[in-house]
Amino acid sequence: MRVVSSIIPTHRVQEGGGFWVRRPVAMGSLMSPFLLLDEMGPNVTKPGEAIGAPWHPHRGFETVTYLLDGRMQHEDSAGNKGELGPGDVQWMTAGKGIIHSEEPHDEFQKTGGRMHGFQIWVNLPAKDKMMPPRYQEIPAEESPTIERDGVWARVVAGECLGLESSINTMIPIEYIHVKMDEGSKLEKRINSTLNAMIYVFGGEIRLQDKVVRDGELALLSEGENISILSKQSSEFLILAGPELNEPIARYGPFVMNTKEEIQQAYLDYQNGNFAN
Ligand code: CO
Repeated sequence: MRVVSSIIPTHRVQEGGGFWVRRPVAMGSLMSPFLLLDEMGPNVTKPGEAIGAPWHPHRGFETVTYLLDGRMQHEDSAGNKGELGPGDVQWMTAGKGIIHSEEPHDEFQKTGGRMHGFQIWVNLPAKDKMMPPRYQEIPAEESPTIERDGVWARVVAGECLGLESSINTMIPIEYIHVKMDEGSKLEKRINSTLNAMIYVFGGEIRLQDKVVRDGELALLSEGENISILSKQSSEFLILAGPELNEPIARYGPFVMNTKEEIQQAYLDYQNGNFAN
């Protein structure tokens, strides 16, 4: 059995154009391959006041955006354009370089409303850091969800309750959004070769002898199976992925293996040799 090995608190920080996110403390160095876990909002904005992230670059990893409430629009240097609504997932592999904008949808900007979602950053192995950018979008209606005995789950990546995601990941990733009714139970296997963690953003859950509460990230021990009991109605993400065991050189939107590669990323960006 996997148990809770430590509980990480979150803090609120401003991202992009100045929107607030809830982020586990020292997230960048907590658990391979996850470089970032941002809960965007929940936040209710007035008409004209929603904030996004204007044009910016990424290199060397993947950004995964999953929206729960609100509406976003995006555009990137590889020619991808689209929108995201509740339940939609965007899995963007920046690889050797992408420049994109992540903004509130024009319609949402007019009306205002509630925005809530997640962006996680998944590191790429050294051999894939300079791969051509790749873009996958899974709309809510095509996204696998299941409900059983008081447990609802959306399988963004990996497998849960016998249901598998169609998303194509560069390394094995589990990304499950779970809602549990009071008193319900969830047992799940997570391959023992993967690191695993659970981020709770509503209610509280119990794993063996430990309680994990709203706004806490639980890092799990090695092992295989997890057994979760929901003492009250709860909502959380299960995330798992491999230990990459490679050096990380990180600066802003670039995550590489060496300082020289970061300098090269800046040079390429400044010289316009970045996203082509
Ligand atoms: Co971005």
